[in-house]
Amino acid sequence: ITVYVPRDTTARALDADRVAARIERGAKTRGVDINVVRNGSRGLFYLEPLVEVDTPEGRVAFGPVTPGDVEPLLDAGLLEGRQDHTLALGLTEEIAYLKGQQRLTFSRIGITDPVSIEDYTALRGFEGLKKALALSSQTIVDEIKTSGLRGRGGAAFPTGIKWQTVHDQPAGQKYVVCNADEGDSGTFADRLVMECDPYMLIEGMTIAGLAAGADQGYIYLRSEYPLAHAILNEAIERAVAAGYLGSNILDSGRAFHLEVRLGAGAYICGEETSLLESLEGKRGLVRAKPPLPAIEGLFGRPTVVNNVLSLAAVPFILDQGGQAYADYGMGRSRGTLAIQLAGNVRRGGLVELAFGTSLRELMEDFGGGTLSGRPLKAVQVGGPLGAYLPQSQWDNPLDYEGFAAFGGVVGHGGIVMFDDSVDMGDQARFAMEFCTVESCGKCTPCRIGAVRGVEVIDRIRAGEAPEKNLVLLADLCETMLDGSLCAMGGMTPFPVQSVMQHFPDDLTPRQAVTA
Ligand code: NAI
Ligand code: SF4
Repeated sequence: ITVYVPRDTTARALDADRVAARIERGAKTRGVDINVVRNGSRGLFYLEPLVEVDTPEGRVAFGPVTPGDVEPLLDAGLLEGRQDHTLALGLTEEIAYLKGQQRLTFSRIGITDPVSIEDYTALRGFEGLKKALALSSQTIVDEIKTSGLRGRGGAAFPTGIKWQTVHDQPAGQKYVVCNADEGDSGTFADRLVMECDPYMLIEGMTIAGLAAGADQGYIYLRSEYPLAHAILNEAIERAVAAGYLGSNILDSGRAFHLEVRLGAGAYICGEETSLLESLEGKRGLVRAKPPLPAIEGLFGRPTVVNNVLSLAAVPFILDQGGQAYADYGMGRSRGTLAIQLAGNVRRGGLVELAFGTSLRELMEDFGGGTLSGRPLKAVQVGGPLGAYLPQSQWDNPLDYEGFAAFGGVVGHGGIVMFDDSVDMGDQARFAMEFCTVESCGKCTPCRIGAVRGVEVIDRIRAGEAPEKNLVLLADLCETMLDGSLCAMGGMTPFPVQSVMQHFPDDLTPRQAVTA
């Protein structure tokens, strides 16, 4: 009997290790021989720890299982997959939250043991790499262009054009750098890739290396992800031993070496040029662009810098063809988006869907509304630098251009929900305060502007000439937008302006709010 208990950070934070230990102990006491596989998470966080059992009909699920639930579940026939318990969820694949998704990138997560190469190859793992090894570097780049894939870190720049730029630089040392400094509030999709399907990232980076002519890759990982660190290192070691990585990939004579580097907790090191500075061992200060990293990147060499999710989409594209990916989506937003539902939400988790779905569908059909049960008031999409969207914008289709048209940001796909108890004035202040803490300090609009922003909002809330200070705040936002060197200072005004525009009643003196 095979029993699956996830081992990703979310499940473990919810006591999955003790659940697994109790299942093993309980089975032993009952004299039943079981094999507990520590799989990755399916991304259905509201059901974690999600325990699954193999049955002839497929895997059946139980969740969320606490250590205290294990004995009653065993008594109710967990190991036989019997479904007469309140935590029984039926066949995993039939759970509506999962069944309603279009998982192209996340097709394997939660199914496999993350570090098992056998599990990975059994589900088409490394097929994309094998195909890429038989293609010219230009053909690989063309396949990515056909897919329409755009940077999933947030900026949505066409990945194929970025790779083409690096490809076209004169031969010599080039690099592939994976931005795994996932820092946006409410996001966890990069972590899920690394903790639950690390070979997918390794394969994507190797293909990027073949396309760009780079034989060295680095994964720049945030230090807050110790489990991802351990899993990536183990996966890299195993991939090298199995010949999928290293100096002679699958006896092709081609080489790609990969190492993980840890950040030190600075949000700004997710900005690609400060990330490169940090990788070089320097302080994470933003560099002016141009030159683009694609031309002068790591150690001054041409460098592909892509987010985890962009690289994770690559194996599917090479295996199934760029067109198969482009068949999903709408307009210029092709393929799928990894949406991360977080904040005040009843059913938080990962939802991979083709572009074009609406926020309302996501928050209501998948998310099930707020956890508090109170009405939703606002939603922040695209991280701490994304606008707060009011109800009137929840029915717009989720795609890059559509969102940009009304000042929204799709970003990395993080959706943070707030109920009607939120004070949006506090949220506007938080945006400015976040910038004061995380600014790299290189340019004045951001370094000084954010501090002034906090002060001005405090004055408004304290009732000191609120009308005059609101004009000042609007002016300050314009200055930061137009004058900042990078997206940190350049986007901090988005959440502030959205509060001014859509929730003006919250940006008033506090006495007035409570009166
Ligand atoms: P950007 O628009 O300056 O650049 C996007 C990418 O395209 C960069 O890699 C750039 O080097 C590349 N590029 C631009 N023109 C090119 C060309 N002609 N050839 C080759 N490559 C080219 O945007 P940036 O500053 O890199 O990112 C800003 C975005 O980051 C924001 O939209 C925000 O949503 C997102 N973000 C994501 C976070 C996360 O945790 N994932 C955190 C904070 C912001
Ligand atoms: Fe640094 Fe902020 Fe200027 Fe970006 S906008 S370069 S984070 S000071």
